[in-house]
Amino acid sequence: MSSSSFLLCANWKMNKNPQQVQSYIREFIKIISLKKSKKIVFFTPALTLFVLQKECSDFLFWGAQNCHFEDEGAFTGENSPLVLKQMGATYCLVGHSERRQLFLENKMDIQKKIHTLIRHSICPIICVGENLAERRRGESFKVIQNQLLNIIKMVDLDMVTIAYEPIWAIGSAEPASPNQIFEMQKYIQQLCESQYKKLQFLYGGSVNIQNAKTLSQIKGVNGFLVGGASLNAQKFCQLSQEIDDS
Ligand code: PGA
Repeated sequence: MSSSSFLLCANWKMNKNPQQVQSYIREFIKIISLKKSKKIVFFTPALTLFVLQKECSDFLFWGAQNCHFEDEGAFTGENSPLVLKQMGATYCLVGHSERRQLFLENKMDIQKKIHTLIRHSICPIICVGENLAERRRGESFKVIQNQLLNIIKMVDLDMVTIAYEPIWAIGSAEPASPNQIFEMQKYIQQLCESQYKKLQFLYGGSVNIQNAKTLSQIKGVNGFLVGGASLNAQKFCQLSQEIDDS
């Protein structure tokens, strides 16, 4: 595990209602023993964020899975980054592959969201990743470069975290191999080198209790974005302990 603090993120996508979020967090707080070197961040559905605002004690962090790039206005159905700030969110996911694929989020929108979040001092976690066809064609690095290019040039990267989530590994029970993750971390670090030295790099895609320890030991990996394996409080707590033990 890298020496900087390990960011363990739970992405619940569109799962759980306010009551379920409340009982999860209460149970989690009872059973978790937290090392100083780790930060846990919950990304629950937008309609339940008010529960996190109330229930998360000072050692648990939370954020939104998405937001708009404008603070307010005629944007039916969107989340205001200004309100997120006012509610106390510390992080926000940006450009998750499900947002890019299912909701047709484009690079321009993603860049604007990152700018807005930084303006509000909310840390963007920028998700990047190639699909299976792109990996098979040997285009993984090119795709990631393309997803990150303008972002790296334009924003102050100190506040930014990059999550590498190969689309083919998400929800597949088969994560990328340690070598594939290591190579991608190295590549992204190189892309960012001139801008900043300490890259906060997360891996996401089928992280679970069985593989968490091995994946957390990959050089340069200092966090996870966990979907399915974060939905049960006891199991996620166990996963978190696997990282402590590594
Ligand atoms: P998964 O999802 O852990 O279920 O693969 C990760 C994600 O989509 O962020």
